[in-house]
Amino acid sequence: MPRLYAVGVGPGDPELMTRKAERVLRSADVIMAPVSNPQEASVALATAREVLDETRQEIILHQFPMTSDKSRLLQAWHEAAALIAARIEAGQVVAFITIGDPLFYSTFIYLLRIFQASYPRIPVDIVPGISSINASAAQAMVPLVEGDERMLVIPATGGLDRIRVALADCETLVLLKVKPVYAEILELLRQTGREQAAIFVERVGSDRQIVLTDPDDMARHKPDYLSLMIIRCSS
Ligand SMILES: C[S@@+](CC[C@H](N)C(=O)[O-])C[C@H]1O[C@@H](n2cnc3c(N)ncnc32)[C@H](O)[C@@H]1O
Repeated sequence: MPRLYAVGVGPGDPELMTRKAERVLRSADVIMAPVSNPQEASVALATAREVLDETRQEIILHQFPMTSDKSRLLQAWHEAAALIAARIEAGQVVAFITIGDPLFYSTFIYLLRIFQASYPRIPVDIVPGISSINASAAQAMVPLVEGDERMLVIPATGGLDRIRVALADCETLVLLKVKPVYAEILELLRQTGREQAAIFVERVGSDRQIVLTDPDDMARHKPDYLSLMIIRCSS
């Protein structure tokens, strides 16, 4: 049955893809993977590659620019939606793959809104994936929350003030997208006496995975985009 699947492939370890993700990916006619620039490899595609058959399946790398320019982004999403819709209307099954989970800070959320508004007759199914937060907690062996505790997730690019407020009243704080403000976050942790409570995780689930708990190691490290921090304020 022609339709769109959004498939979360997990954080980068092919073994962390679900059986459902694998089944859907094997049966799809078209796989679309988002990339932020055409030279860059898609982490989602690399994760899924071993279950794909490029002789039978069409693989599309679609560029979603990393920009805050809403009109450029909107154009990229609408182009992707039109490409996908044309294939589904021709009778094909399309799988849009995302790292982690498709409804957790993912490009797919924008596509979903476009499909709901502009292509309401096309069926959409979502296959959840293991998010980078769960995989990072497992690798660092740190409990995320227990009992009555709360966990707050903040994209660090949204401003340091939100992080400062959260640190004053948090049990577990998870910071995503830490790269652009990494030095400022480390300084804030130092000022608030939380530096020993922080864990840094980069490229979890891949052979380039890094887990750091020592503040000096964190200070020496230059993070890449796929990195996050878990701060256990209550322990
Ligand atoms: C746009 S969000 C995507 C989140 C993804 N949908 C998920 O469920 O994990 C991108 C941010 O997620 C985090 N992230 C994604 N994959 C990661 C990985 N393999 N290792 C560490 N952090 C990761 C980083 O903070 C990165 O900046």
